[in-house]
Amino acid sequence: MDYQNILDRVHAAVKPVIGSGIVASYIPELAKVPADQFGIAIVDLAGNVYRAGAADTPFSIQSISKLFALALAFYREGDSIWTRVGREPSGNPFNSLVQLEQERGKPRNPFINAGALVITDMLLTHYADDGGAGNALIKFIRKLADNNDISYDRAVAASEQGTAHRNAAMANFMKSFGNLNNSVNEVIETYCRNCAIAMSCVDLARAVTFLANHGVVPWSDETIVDASSAKRLNALMLTCGTYDAAGDFAFRVGLPAKSGVGGGIVALIPGECGICVWSPALEASGNSYAGSLALEMLTSISGRSVF
Ligand code: DON
Repeated sequence: MDYQNILDRVHAAVKPVIGSGIVASYIPELAKVPADQFGIAIVDLAGNVYRAGAADTPFSIQSISKLFALALAFYREGDSIWTRVGREPSGNPFNSLVQLEQERGKPRNPFINAGALVITDMLLTHYADDGGAGNALIKFIRKLADNNDISYDRAVAASEQGTAHRNAAMANFMKSFGNLNNSVNEVIETYCRNCAIAMSCVDLARAVTFLANHGVVPWSDETIVDASSAKRLNALMLTCGTYDAAGDFAFRVGLPAKSGVGGGIVALIPGECGICVWSPALEASGNSYAGSLALEMLTSISGRSVF
């Protein structure tokens, strides 16, 4: 597959729509990011890197961190995590409070904010005596991306923490149902820090290659999760990874994917490669407008998808 040629074609085709949509502004620091940016990268299982546009520019990974947090919690805690968080699409916006009350404090899935707060709580408990959950996640991501310079953006973390009123409401609510073991403040602080991790498209494409390779990092042969868990993580990405638009995204793109309101979307082609696209302006669902279109073109041109 001539991925470089495909990425160049995709980049040229989406140029006219780069900047269409709205940059997330409910986190003030994100509102400062110029909308007219675009990058895309593919890292295949042999380690070859293909890139177009600003593929090496770090951006705020936001909810893409939820994928790595889930992988770490799943690896550490196994199937017991499903007693505290579900695995069904929510059919609601990622920061909705409505279902939580009806479902007695158990979030629908780990990729909506409430679910990620529960996963953060699990990691806080697990890593309490081992450098903390935030450090554990950064170390995990650095290993997956093979880049020790990855860190979090303090300004974004502070900006998010100062405006995390909805997330705090969800956390308090879940605490009232006994579904958080640590303090709401600790959970929110760690969650905001994780969302504020900055990575490039190349970093992120490389970091998800283990999910395209049955849970094994292709260049180091390290098993991150077993093949069955990798399959389950991919299934969750497909059904819940792109918010309330997951059905439409599966229809258009046909790949497991996880998006973030920073404009990044990671995806993967099982057995072939990790992919990441970034463009900060979002469609109404919260997914990158140009990024979604680029992935749709990529699977249409290459003929590759999980279907
Ligand atoms: O908590 C928030 O609202 C943001 N830090 C992340 C939102 C996001 O990317 C979409 N989430 N599923």
